[in-house]
Amino acid sequence: MSPDLLLTGGTGTLGRLIFPRLQDAGRKVRVLSRSRHESGDGVEYVTGDLATGDGLERAVDGISTVVHCAGTAKGDEDKTRNLVQAASAAGVQHLVYISVVGVERIPVVSRTDRAMFGYFASKLAAEKVIAGSGLPWTTLRATQFHEAMLAMIQQMARLPVVPAPSGFQFQPVDGAEVADRLVELSLGEPAGLVPDLAGPRVYKMAEMVRTYLRASHRRRLVLPVKAPGKAARAYRSGANLAPDRAVGRRTWEKFLDERLD
Ligand SMILES: NC(=O)c1ccc[n+]([C@@H]2O[C@H](COP(=O)([O-])OP(=O)(O)OC[C@H]3O[C@@H](n4cnc5c(N)ncnc54)[C@H](OP(=O)(O)O)[C@@H]3O)[C@@H](O)[C@H]2O)c1
Repeated sequence: MSPDLLLTGGTGTLGRLIFPRLQDAGRKVRVLSRSRHESGDGVEYVTGDLATGDGLERAVDGISTVVHCAGTAKGDEDKTRNLVQAASAAGVQHLVYISVVGVERIPVVSRTDRAMFGYFASKLAAEKVIAGSGLPWTTLRATQFHEAMLAMIQQMARLPVVPAPSGFQFQPVDGAEVADRLVELSLGEPAGLVPDLAGPRVYKMAEMVRTYLRASHRRRLVLPVKAPGKAARAYRSGANLAPDRAVGRRTWEKFLDERLD
């Protein structure tokens, strides 16, 4: 049986958590990647690039559902447009997309905003490409994944003094919980924009950094810095949070305990 579900971003943090779940649900999965991978264990890899459109015709051939998790800091709308074009031509019946909480509340206007928060503008633009595609669609917005926050904080903690933007708060959610929800959505009917998925608690940035430093037995000075621009102001007012959608269960502390053990 050839796959009827295409997973973009299947080699990434979230995608790697999704495809075993889809397999457990009995789905044959095709994964799109820019690099070559050996197919096997029920996963078929197709080489292609969403930015150039190379390989997309082959990637969507025979596919009824696309779960679109490929993303980078910039240009998600262009990648999504190429995917939508190929998916429409192939008669795809459901396009599932992962976006970010706060995309519509974080104004990206100045050059400073774009440099620091351009990601949000490109996720919002990609959402619009999907909603206007004519394809049946589902979009889930999630807060930052624990895994992504850890990678960012580990990078920052290489410095002797860790800068923590003052007033910034996060509500990190576990990647596995996002994967569970996306699989549920991709096995269901197209549902449009569904309720946000956010982690169980809101933390100040400095608190997240300090918890990481404690858990990893490091000593660093945490220095509050004020980030400039309108997008940063929106962040300080909590535009990236969804306290009324704190449905995630695994906390940052629990994640660190298990990951850094
Ligand atoms: N990280 C977060 O905290 C967070 C929160 C909410 C939503 N999201 C969204 O969730 C999605 C997945 O995030 P992640 O953290 O799992 O990302 P990630 O680990 O950085 O992985 C990115 C994935 O995108 C694929 N990709 C990038 N450019 C591509 C291109 N031109 N053509 C084809 N594939 C391409 C990569 O595949 P190859 O390298 O194999 O080509 C990789 O599998 C993204 O859309 C992101 O915006 C993330």
